[in-house]
This record gives sequence, C-alpha cells and structure tokens, in this order.
Amino acid sequence: MIIKEQLQQMTIREIFSKYPFVLNYFENNKLSVAGHDDKTIQGYKEQFEEHELEEWAIDISKLEEELVEYINQMLSFLGEEQEQSVSTLTILPGKDKHGNPETFQDFVIHKSDIIAIVGPTGSGKSRLLADIEWTAKGDTPTGRSILINGQEADNKWRFSGSNKLVAQLSQNMNFVIDLTVGEFIELHAKSRMVEEHEHVVKRIVEAANYLAGEKFDYDTPVTSLSGGQSRALMIADTAILSTSPIVLIDEIENAGIDRKKALKLLVGEEKIVLMATHDPTLALMAKKRIVIKNGGIAKIIDTSSEEKKILIKLEEMDEKIQSLRADLRAGETVKGEF
Ligand SMILES: Nc1ncnc2c1ncn2[C@@H]1O[C@H](COP(=O)(O)OP(=O)(O)O)[C@@H](O)[C@H]1O
Ligand SMILES: [Mg+2]
Repeated sequence: MIIKEQLQQMTIREIFSKYPFVLNYFENNKLSVAGHDDKTIQGYKEQFEEHELEEWAIDISKLEEELVEYINQMLSFLGEEQEQSVSTLTILPGKDKHGNPETFQDFVIHKSDIIAIVGPTGSGKSRLLADIEWTAKGDTPTGRSILINGQEADNKWRFSGSNKLVAQLSQNMNFVIDLTVGEFIELHAKSRMVEEHEHVVKRIVEAANYLAGEKFDYDTPVTSLSGGQSRALMIADTAILSTSPIVLIDEIENAGIDRKKALKLLVGEEKIVLMATHDPTLALMAKKRIVIKNGGIAKIIDTSSEEKKILIKLEEMDEKIQSLRADLRAGETVKGEF
C-alpha cells in the first residue's frame, strides 16, 4: 500500500524506481515526463497551462489520487495468481456510425488465429481494436461487447498493466520518458517483473535491429529514434516481453520495417492476433478478415484456398520489391528484367 502523502514526497524518478509498472500508466495516458524526472507530481503538474489541461483524457488535478489508486490496484493484482489463459475472444454486434445495427452473428476468435481488419481510412478499424483493448461492454461509441472465454470480461483486465489482456501496438508511437534504448527496455522489463533483464534487453535490441532498416544501439536516446526504429523497438519489446494472450496491431506497415518479419515475431501458438491493415500480403496471411464500412462490421470473409495461392505470388513480388528497395537505398543502379 502507498498513501497520497508518501507519493507527494517522491520525485518521478523515485516513483519509477520503486513502482516500475507506473510507466504503463503514463504511457497509456500519453503523459510525457521527459525532462521532469526530478520533480514531484505536484511540480510536474505546474508546468501545464489551463488550456493544455483541458485536452488531457484524464483529470490531471486528480493525478495524485489516480496514481495512488493505480499503484495500489497494481500491487494487489500482482499479488494474485493471474489466470492468463484465454481460449476464445467473442465480438458481439453493435452499431455503425449511422446507428444501424451490425448484422454478423457473434464472432468467435480462437487461440492462434490471425484476423485482419480491412476498410478505408476513417472507417473504424482502430475503433474496433480499441473496443477489444477496453473489453467493451456496450460502453463505447460502437455499442459492441467483447467476451473472454464466452463470458463478460473481468474489469481487472482494464487496469492491469503488466499482465494486460492485450498488447497494443498503436499507430502513433511516442516515448514519454527521456532514456536510452537500454534503460527504456530495462524499465519495461522491470515493470513486467522479468527476472533476467540483461539477457532480455540484449534479445530485444537484437530483434529490433533485425526489423529496422537503420541500426541503433543501447546508448541511443529513445527520443532520437526514427519512426521506423521506434516502431521496431516497440514490436520487439512486445514480442519478447509481453505475456498478453491477445495482440492488437494497428497498421504495422507504414513504418519502414520488415512487416512480415514483424508479424512472425509477434504471432505465437498461444496468442490471438488482430491487425488492422491496408497491406494485401498481411490481409491474406490472416485466416479471416473483417471488413469495416462506416464504423460497422460489414462482412467477415474466410481466406480462400485461391487467395492463399495468390498470397504465394504476392510474397514473391514483395521479395523482389524489397530487394529493389535495398539496392536503391544502398546507392546502386538497377537494370535488366524485373
Ligand atoms: N460504430 C461507430 N460508431 C461511432 N463512431 C465510430 C464508430 N466506428 C468508428 N467510429 C469513429 O470514427 C472515427 C474513425 O475511426 P477509426 O477507427 O480511427 O478509423 P480507421 O482506423 O479505420 O482509420 C473515430 O473517431 C471513431 O471513434
Ligand atoms: Mg486507424
């Protein structure tokens, strides 16, 4: 247990070092503490102007109270034996943007399934992922509900940061804290109660470099990583550290990383993977694809055997394009038949 008076005495650095999982809280609320490590929460709050505060999703005047609650909740979750096994995820229909009911039957997704989500920009792909992340109970704009193992999800999934139900890879990656790559991963590893940090940090940096076009190092500050590098780092971090049984991926392709390698790293026998994508190769790698229109699930299509054959051709074409890209990037000229 921690009480408010204790928290008020601590600097942000001290809070992170005592309760590493607090990083998840700041990340989830998109609160950047970069450059404020030596301040207390009160000092941190003083930097914000009135109009800035209005934009925050959370009421920052209650930040101390919320943090105290979060820390105490996490401490009690961590003490419990977590039941991690998720064998099915069910999506119950809601409404599209015009309020028309969705017409699909309850959609049950099983362990080791990869499901793609396709549809135009603005159609509601990220919204569907957010419904799953929040284990919606009719309490989101779509009115959908999400069941875990056929039952309404326990609220603990909404709060628990380290053994979260869902590992979310979002479209926007922003680092909330000024650290080197090595320090950042180490903090993440600690926040997930991983024992052998050094080994894990090494594996993550290697995996991230395997995905990223340009290499980086332990000592690189996270805030100076390129879009592709930070995406690669977050993917490797999620793939290696996360024990979440459900992985949500939002448009992995727009980041200058090898998206097929990334998908292979993230997918696991025991996991359920949902990914929003505009990429035909990724869409056809999925077992099924959800088609979104106007905010609603319009269709759910099984990938046919004919489509799987087309996928093989697509992958060959992809390889050619990738190697062409690598050659051009390396300053070479290309000629001959393509
Ligand atoms: N069923 C729905 N009802 C109401 N609003 C919706 C619904 N589906 C999506 N939206 C809203 O539409 C906007 C665009 O959706 P988004 O998921 O970001 O699209 P995409 O990821 O496909 O580009 C968001 O503001 C989202 O909250
Ligand atoms: Mg989106």
